[in-house]
Amino acid sequence: MVQVKSNREIEAMRRVGKLVAKVLRQVATLVKPGVTLLELDSAAESLSRDEGAIPAFKGYQGYRHTLCTSVNEQIVHGIPSDRALKEGDIIGLDFGLILDGFYGDSAITVPVGPISEQAAELCQTTMRALYAAIDACRAGNTLKDIAAAVEGVVNPKSFGIVREFVGHGIGRKLHEDPQVPNYVAGASSFKLKPGMTICLEPMVNRGKPGMRVLSDGWTAVSADGSLSAHYEHALVITGGDAEVLTEWDGGRPYGGFLEKLAGFQL
Ligand code: MF3
Ligand code: CO
Repeated sequence: MVQVKSNREIEAMRRVGKLVAKVLRQVATLVKPGVTLLELDSAAESLSRDEGAIPAFKGYQGYRHTLCTSVNEQIVHGIPSDRALKEGDIIGLDFGLILDGFYGDSAITVPVGPISEQAAELCQTTMRALYAAIDACRAGNTLKDIAAAVEGVVNPKSFGIVREFVGHGIGRKLHEDPQVPNYVAGASSFKLKPGMTICLEPMVNRGKPGMRVLSDGWTAVSADGSLSAHYEHALVITGGDAEVLTEWDGGRPYGGFLEKLAGFQL
């Protein structure tokens, strides 16, 4: 069942969404060559607790960390380790919080120093796919319209849209109905209504769409070893444009954060 949230509930979703955005930006700012994934994870946890919020992923289905850190060919659910980032890597930071009983969830893929043109094109394409999907989130539109928006950006590049993971409703739980696939063949004609709160999260491989999960039981990697990117926002459907609950200060996309990084052209 897909819920329509009350104004009070949406207010609470705004608060947690803003906090997710603030902390995710602080963590993204720490991304540099030499930083380890566990350092990013512990920064995310202490910044969250300082704000009085609870890391949403820690303890979720046995997951033991605050962040998911997915480097290069890792698609999502990479586990923080003592691996140090290197110049030219790309790292997906996926992060969720609980505040006053409501969840926020967002992700960004960040370049580590200057990156290859191929990597930048992948990140740019995936981020554009997310914002095209957000623009399709209008009352009366369907989940197929969202998936078509993602495909409209990604397919001309012949990159692979990952099918095994989907966006989702969000609220008092991290994952609520509906599931929000990023490819049209997987999407239903379910219609969006004002007050629905959903997360959109396209995952795109530079090569083929296939994935496998490593023996740690979590880390999803592209089957062909190609680079992969992931961007995610939580939003609320309104009578007009969707309101992005996890947008960064400075506005879309991500408060201009990526444009400011060397080697990353939008
Ligand atoms: N942001 C992801 C999602 O939307 C991550 C959750 S997996 C977790 O599903 F186990 F790390 F929590
Ligand atoms: Co999510």
